[in-house]
Amino acid sequence: MIYRITLLPGDGIGPEIMAVAQEVLQVVGKQLNIDFEFQEALMGGAAIDATGEPLPQETLDKCRNSDAVLLAAIGGYKWDNLPRHLRPETGLLGLRAGLGLFANLRPAKILPQLIDASSLKQEIVEGVDIMVVRELTGGVYFGQPKGIFTTETGEKRGVNTMAYTEAEIDRIGRVGFETAQKRGKKLCSVDKANVLDVSQLWRDRINALASEYPDVELTHLYVDNAAMQLIRYPKQFDTIVTGNLFGDILSDAAAMLTGSIGMLPSASLGAQGPGVFEPVHGSAPDIAGQDKANPIAQVLSAAMMLRYGLNQPQASDRIEQAVLKVLEQGDRTGDIMAPGMNLLGCQAMGKALIQSLN
Ligand code: NAD
Ligand code: IPM
Ligand code: MN
Repeated sequence: MIYRITLLPGDGIGPEIMAVAQEVLQVVGKQLNIDFEFQEALMGGAAIDATGEPLPQETLDKCRNSDAVLLAAIGGYKWDNLPRHLRPETGLLGLRAGLGLFANLRPAKILPQLIDASSLKQEIVEGVDIMVVRELTGGVYFGQPKGIFTTETGEKRGVNTMAYTEAEIDRIGRVGFETAQKRGKKLCSVDKANVLDVSQLWRDRINALASEYPDVELTHLYVDNAAMQLIRYPKQFDTIVTGNLFGDILSDAAAMLTGSIGMLPSASLGAQGPGVFEPVHGSAPDIAGQDKANPIAQVLSAAMMLRYGLNQPQASDRIEQAVLKVLEQGDRTGDIMAPGMNLLGCQAMGKALIQSLN
């Protein structure tokens, strides 16, 4: 089997962690007779510097013509003051919309080896295994009208619109229910229906879908309470389904339960075509170029690519096992460091992961 993979290393720590993930894929591929044909493309700040735009047409075309896309991260101080349409983040939104990736799966699972790295007490985080299903191509990120307008009095007014159609809610709702069916059969839908009309429609549609999934126990939480409950007693959650902005925020909070955002992968999927697999974290400009980044979120994103994008669960398992093994032997990057463990840089962690693949 030969798979064409588009690699988007992007900015900041992106190239450092991507190099590790690519090597891991190459080694696993050799071991299991899976061939990868890698092609790199420009994205984010790197693309702005080279071409003047964050998502060149050529990059989008390459992504469309591949079996899966592995993205590292984009963004950084250098591009923070560009007009909105030229910012690296706008390129990422364009990629998600362009490929129709409406469903973003963000797992947060506590690994026993990292219990000490969490900022919460052991008894609170032990056994936590949450999947956040985040809607990714709608909501306030995309709703119209949007922009900074000038009012009649000459004052500026910033506007974004949180909007969802029934069809948009139904398709992400189904992913939520189906994900819960394959897991602990508990789905918590998170919204702000006590205040927002868009959330009332969200809740109505999720409730309407529930009759098709009688084996799934459905609950609802307002987003403020959900944020609090995630920190108070995260074990109550199995699968969470929510809109774009709430999912962005809650998945960073869920990430921290596991010890570090440097551990968390994600999969962005559409109805058909290639998915994009990327860490939940960003380009970490504060540690870029210093060989300090934790490459595990990127490597686990490659594992999600094998599982969800290429239907190669055996290869995916192998990578996940290697991650457990290096953690078991005490190897740590700075973000998950604890007393008595071995502090490694990004490259050394990559080598340790390669050695643990078997
Ligand atoms: P961030 O996730 O990049 O960093 C937050 C903190 O976590 C930083 O202290 C960073 O050093 C640390 N961190 C993140 N990943 C790490 C890793 N793998 N190993 C060790 N430490 C890690 O978030 P931010 O600082 O708010 O954003 C930085 C830039 O990244 C911004 O331009 C933002 O727009 C962009 N961003 C991009 C993506 C993406 O490409 N998907 C996601 C989030 C943020
Ligand atoms: C993420 C990021 C992006 C988002 C930004 C960089 C556009 O925070 O992937 O979580 O908000 O979706
Ligand atoms: Mn985010």
